[in-house]
Amino acid sequence: MSSTLFRTKKVEQSILDTEEPEHALKKSLSALDLTVFGVGVIIGTGIFVLTGTVARNNAGPAVALAFVVAGVVCALAALCYAEFASTVPVAGSAYTFSYASLGELPAWIIGWDLVLEFALGTAVVAVGWSGYIASLMDNAGWELPEALGTRDGADGFGFDILAAALVLLLTAILVVGTKLSARVTSLVVAVKVTVVLTVIIAGAFFIDGDNYDPFIPKAQAVEAGDNLQAPLIQLMFGWAPSNFGVMGIFTAASVVFFAFIGFDVVATAAEETKNPQRDMPRGILGSLLICTTLYVAVSIVVTGMQNYTDLSITAPLADAFKATGHPWFAGFISFGAAVGLTTVCMILLLGQTRVFFAMSRDGLLPRFFSHVHPRFRTPHRPTILLGVLIAILAGFTPLSELAELVNIGTLFAFVVVAIGVIILRRSRPDLHRAFRTPWVPFIPILSVCASLWLMLNLPAETWVRFAGWMAVGFVVYFLYGRSHSRLGRHEETTVGDVMKGPRPGDPQ
Ligand code: ALA
Repeated sequence: MSSTLFRTKKVEQSILDTEEPEHALKKSLSALDLTVFGVGVIIGTGIFVLTGTVARNNAGPAVALAFVVAGVVCALAALCYAEFASTVPVAGSAYTFSYASLGELPAWIIGWDLVLEFALGTAVVAVGWSGYIASLMDNAGWELPEALGTRDGADGFGFDILAAALVLLLTAILVVGTKLSARVTSLVVAVKVTVVLTVIIAGAFFIDGDNYDPFIPKAQAVEAGDNLQAPLIQLMFGWAPSNFGVMGIFTAASVVFFAFIGFDVVATAAEETKNPQRDMPRGILGSLLICTTLYVAVSIVVTGMQNYTDLSITAPLADAFKATGHPWFAGFISFGAAVGLTTVCMILLLGQTRVFFAMSRDGLLPRFFSHVHPRFRTPHRPTILLGVLIAILAGFTPLSELAELVNIGTLFAFVVVAIGVIILRRSRPDLHRAFRTPWVPFIPILSVCASLWLMLNLPAETWVRFAGWMAVGFVVYFLYGRSHSRLGRHEETTVGDVMKGPRPGDPQ
C-alpha cells in the first residue's frame, strides 16, 4: 500500500500532460508579465491593513523587522520554488512539484492545502476590499445597510454584498481568459505601486523621530485567557504568553507573512509561460525583492508618522495621513488600496483554479473539471465552481482569523517544496534545471526550519483548524482520489496521443 501512496508522476509525464489538446492552457506570459503578476498579488491586505494591527498589538515600530523576518523566510522558500518551477513547468505549483518528487499522497496533501490557502486568501482580500469601498462610499455620503457590510465586528446575521460581488465579477473575467486579466492586472498594479510610493515619499516628510522610541517596545504579559489563542511555541515551552519584545517580532512576522503570499502563485502559472525555464525564477525572485523593499519602507514611514499605539487597524496607511492633517492624501490612498486589492483577489482566485485544474487532470478530483473552454482555453468549470463558493464564503465570514489559517497552510506548502528539492536532486539528478537552488541541501533545510519557526509562532487554535481541514482531505483522498488517480490506473499520455489533435495556438 505504501508504494501506491508514494507513487510519483514522472516529470516528463507532467510536461506531456500539458500538451494534450483538450487539457492544455494557452502559453502567453513573459518574465515581465510574471513579475507584474507577482507584484499584483503580493501587495495587498497585508501591507494595507495588517501593518497597523500588528504594530499596535505585537511589535510597535519593529513591525519593519517583522517584515524583514517574513521576507527572509519567503526568499529562502522562493529559491526552492524557483528550482521546482523551472524543472517542472506545468500548472499546479507545489502540488505538481510534490507529485513529481514526494509521491501521490504528499501531493494530494499539498494540493488540498493550497486550496485552503488560495480560497481563504481570496475571501480575506475580498472582505478587505469591501471595507475600503465602504469607507470611500461613506466619504461620498452613501451608506450600505449594516447587514450588507463587512462582517468584521458586525452584529447579527448579514452578508457582505460587496465582497461577494467582487469575487463573482472576477470569476467572469477569469473565465474569459488570462490575457485579458493580465492586461487589467498591469494597469491596476501601476496604480497600487504609485499609492505605495506616495505613502513612502510623501509620508517621509511627516515623520516624527519620537515615534521610534522605543523601536522595540518592552515585552508585555498577555492577560490569562483562552490558551488556544497563544502562539503554539509559547504553550509548548510553557512560556507566559506575551506581546512585544523580541518574541513579539516573530509573532508579528507570522501574521504579516500574509503580505508576502502570492509569489508562490506566480509558480502556478508556469504552464502559461512562454519560456518557463528562464522566466519563472526571474518572475518569482524579482517580485519578491520589490515587495520586501516597499514593505519595510512603508512600515518605517507609517510608524514614524504616528505613534504605534494610535495606528488605525482598518486603514492604517490612509489614517496616518489624516492624523498628520493631510486628508487629501488619505482619500487618494484609500482609492488606490481598493483598486489594488482587486488584482490580489483575482490572482489568488486564478492560482486556486489552476491547482484544482491540475488535481482534476490527474484524476485525484473529478476529470469533469479539467476540460478547458473550447474558445477561451481557460479551465472554466473549476473557475466557476470555486468562484461561487468563495463568493459565499467572503459574504458570510469575518477575515481576522482566516488570515492566520491561510498563513499556516502556505508555510506548510513551503516545507514540502523545500524537502522536495532535496529529494528530486537525488532521485532525478539528470533533469535539466534552468534555475538551481544554491547550496543544496543547506538552503532547503534552512527554508524548512524558517517556515516551521513561523508556523510555531501562530496561535494554537490555528493549528487545530488546520489539522481539521487536513483530516477532511485525507477522507476525500481515500474515498475518491486514490482509486481514480490516472497514475494509479496507468492512463499515461503518450507522444502519439499528443500528436492526434490540433495543438493550442495552431491556426484554426
Ligand atoms: N499578499 C497578499 C496580501 O497582502 C495576499 O493581500
